[in-house]
Amino acid sequence: MSHRRGSLSSNDLFPREIDIEICLKTLKIYQKMEGDVNCVVWDASLVLAKYLETISQQKPEFLSGTKVLELGSGLGVVGLTAATLGAQVTLTDLPEALPLLRLNISENKQKICSMGGYAIAEVLVWGDNNSEIHKQEFDMVVLADCVYYEDAVEPLLQTLQNLNYTVMKKPTIYLTQELRDTEVQRKLWSEFYEKLTEMFYVERIPEDEQHINYRSPDIVLLKINKK
Ligand SMILES: C[S@@+](CC[C@H](N)C(=O)[O-])C[C@H]1O[C@@H](n2cnc3c(N)ncnc32)[C@H](O)[C@@H]1O
Repeated sequence: MSHRRGSLSSNDLFPREIDIEICLKTLKIYQKMEGDVNCVVWDASLVLAKYLETISQQKPEFLSGTKVLELGSGLGVVGLTAATLGAQVTLTDLPEALPLLRLNISENKQKICSMGGYAIAEVLVWGDNNSEIHKQEFDMVVLADCVYYEDAVEPLLQTLQNLNYTVMKKPTIYLTQELRDTEVQRKLWSEFYEKLTEMFYVERIPEDEQHINYRSPDIVLLKINKK
């Protein structure tokens, strides 16, 4: 028998478990059988989540009490990992992605709270410069696999540019992107990357500094700071 979780039918949902080894917690992330790109866990999100875990193992204060913003969260793997590692996380996406994202937050809430973290989900459409998010201060911004269609390149760069940077607080941005081997996707990435490097200092994090089991030559991991 099926039952409903808010507007979501449990018949359409299937869970994926993601271990956060350093704190012995397992996230339960619901995916949808059918739907848009925000209904599945993408590999780039696992690479970034596991990188956050790797750095937290080396520096336990890395995420503890840190204010983190996630853009294009999808199902929330990166943001929920950060929250389980002790961060105060605002996960954002398009309005239609929020019901499942919120379900994933509530499913993992107890684990997050037990580690001193916090997670909420809000709408943030890239390029909407009137969003209240732009007034908030963050220590870190994370985004995985968000450069995948032409119309989003400019709005996404605008959102990164219009975050709240102050003398006291300039959030560091961590971005992962799967480099897909089609002409369209290669062109899209090179356009995005060129504009990104005009506005920001961009450093590529080498594979040997990433999680030993969650890294790939096809997935680029960047550390980005405002010029
Ligand atoms: C390929 S998915 C990646 C999801 C997640 N970060 C992951 O790696 O599993 C891209 C995400 O960007 C979101 N997105 C696309 N266009 C957007 C826009 N204009 N504003 C905000 N989010 C957007 C989608 O809803 C989706 O969740």
